[in-house]
Amino acid sequence: MKRKNIAAANWKMNTTVQEGVALMTELCAHDLDRDAQVVVCAPATHLYSLGQLSTPDHVATGGQNIYTKDSGAYTGEISCPMLLSTGATYAVVGHSERRAYFAETDEFLGQKAKAALSHGLTPIFCCGEGLEIRKAGNHVAHVMNQLKASFALLTKEEVAKLVIAYEPIWAIGTGETASPEQAQEMHAAIRTFLTQAYGEEIAQGISILYGGSVKPANAKEIFGQPDVDGGLVGGASLKADSFAAIVNSF
Ligand code: 13P
Repeated sequence: MKRKNIAAANWKMNTTVQEGVALMTELCAHDLDRDAQVVVCAPATHLYSLGQLSTPDHVATGGQNIYTKDSGAYTGEISCPMLLSTGATYAVVGHSERRAYFAETDEFLGQKAKAALSHGLTPIFCCGEGLEIRKAGNHVAHVMNQLKASFALLTKEEVAKLVIAYEPIWAIGTGETASPEQAQEMHAAIRTFLTQAYGEEIAQGISILYGGSVKPANAKEIFGQPDVDGGLVGGASLKADSFAAIVNSF
């Protein structure tokens, strides 16, 4: 099975609605590789306006977070039906910033992924290790434990619908990128875990993205690794030119 190449932008907590609309408009004015799935994960306040723009079919929008419940007294949270009603079809789940600043646990993130899938949203499920863990050489075991703990709540059919993003925390926003070999090592380990747990067909069908200081200058080499199927891009997605160059790096 041919996996989807995906270039996903994570704008994080940047841009006003007006700036976001201008950025999306400028991005879509570029000639974007039609074989790549483009996903713009914008702040929730922006998604409805972005959904009203006329964008090419291969450009989708996504949320950066969701809550597990559909509605109710959960002040400040955003439900899957709310995200879907903006036109978004993806949701980032388990970004390291949510894990670190909002104490989101592996189990809770498994529940979020399950909620997203039950509504037909595609989770971009993030994992990754911090610098200490990398230095100690425990990075592969750490990431496998994250995935095992979260995916325990999911059926095989649900796992098959995920997109996974490996984002080493030491490479996020630091300008330091994992080398293509370091990215490939982890992506191959993730795919081996998926093969052992869910079978070859499912493992081969899941797109695994790399995130952490992806830029136009390094995207081609990283995306060229056999188990790297694209990127989740923070800083470099805030300029239309640089994100378009990344989209066109497959
Ligand atoms: P940077 O591309 O800014 O390093 O951010 C990566 C990231 O966290 C994407 O989710």
